[in-house]
Amino acid sequence: MRIGLAGAGRIGARHAAALCGLAEIESLVVADADPARARKLAAGLGGRAAAVEPVEALFGAGLDGLVVAAATDAHAGLVGRAVAAATPVFCEKPLASDIDGTFQIMVAARTARVPVQVGFQRRFDAGYLAAREAVAAGRLGWLHTVRSCSFDPAPPPPSYIPASGGLFRDCLIHDLDSIRYVTGREVVRVMAAGGNRGDAVFAEHGDVDTGAALLVLDDGTLAVVSATRYNAAGYDVRLELFGAKDSLVAGLDARTPLTPLPAHAVPDTPYSGFLERFAPAYDAELRAFVDVVAGRRPNPCPPEDALEAFYLAEACELARRECRAVDPAEVRR
Ligand SMILES: NC(=O)c1ccc[n+]([C@@H]2O[C@H](COP(=O)([O-])OP(=O)(O)OC[C@H]3O[C@@H](n4cnc5c(N)ncnc54)[C@H](O)[C@@H]3O)[C@@H](O)[C@H]2O)c1
Repeated sequence: MRIGLAGAGRIGARHAAALCGLAEIESLVVADADPARARKLAAGLGGRAAAVEPVEALFGAGLDGLVVAAATDAHAGLVGRAVAAATPVFCEKPLASDIDGTFQIMVAARTARVPVQVGFQRRFDAGYLAAREAVAAGRLGWLHTVRSCSFDPAPPPPSYIPASGGLFRDCLIHDLDSIRYVTGREVVRVMAAGGNRGDAVFAEHGDVDTGAALLVLDDGTLAVVSATRYNAAGYDVRLELFGAKDSLVAGLDARTPLTPLPAHAVPDTPYSGFLERFAPAYDAELRAFVDVVAGRRPNPCPPEDALEAFYLAEACELARRECRAVDPAEVRR
């Protein structure tokens, strides 16, 4: 199988290494808007990887599938071209920078019947999968509360912020997707707020460094999602589920950067970031993509789910900006 990779940054380098570890991948073709970055990455991967430039050269490279790990504002263009060429795509979240772009990709992929798998890797995390099974099996009884957090130890480089789409679309979109995925319910109302006590770069781009939203699900369950770029204790991503019969948490282990008080168990070396915490999930989602390309399994993260998560992120942004409750139907197309 010949796979292309657009984007050789933080997550692109991780995906390249994972793909080269799969026996089925005969060659990996790497491109980046910064060609030197693509060349450096390919050179470090051994004989199966090669760099091409410009990025458009990917579309004449005879690919069986394309992995898009470029900056968010490049996603829609790259995915659109791949779909038009009938090339299956794995695309990092979010699928596009706005609702229109996400909607158009969904329609194009559906019309052309080309798989577009979105990078919601929490769907491949052992804890989230077990939580979903427990909810479906009724182990918790009816849910009253869900709490989801995404705490980064430190902000990304300032250059990442302008193209990121903001905290709700860039980061909390994972929480919004996983709440739908794990509970099987839809969100009917959101309230949200943001905080800016860190670097001024966030406010300068209309963004927040910390955000939280209260979601009301269609069965009456309340869900709280929160994220920050400033959790110096370590990388902390958890999903807590509380029901009438039981409570469960995904993502709590000896490395979760949370010290109980009175302090009797200081966490082991805390998770340093998403690359470490979700390593098995990233491997599993790319393994799944190869199976999707080979026609062996249905798409586990279709554009329809990316669109729904984006609607919710957009609704949270609107709720935060206008300080009011928002029905996601307000932003749906
Ligand atoms: N699923 C996750 O957990 C996760 C984690 C981190 C990042 N991401 C997503 O992955 C994407 C990349 O994030 P990152 O942290 O690797 O960013 P990054 O800034 O480290 O890398 C982005 C790369 O894209 C390149 N690029 C920009 N425009 C391009 C284009 N048109 N064609 C090809 N390359 C282009 C840049 O030169 C850079 O090398 C973002 O969309 C982000 O939302 C997902």
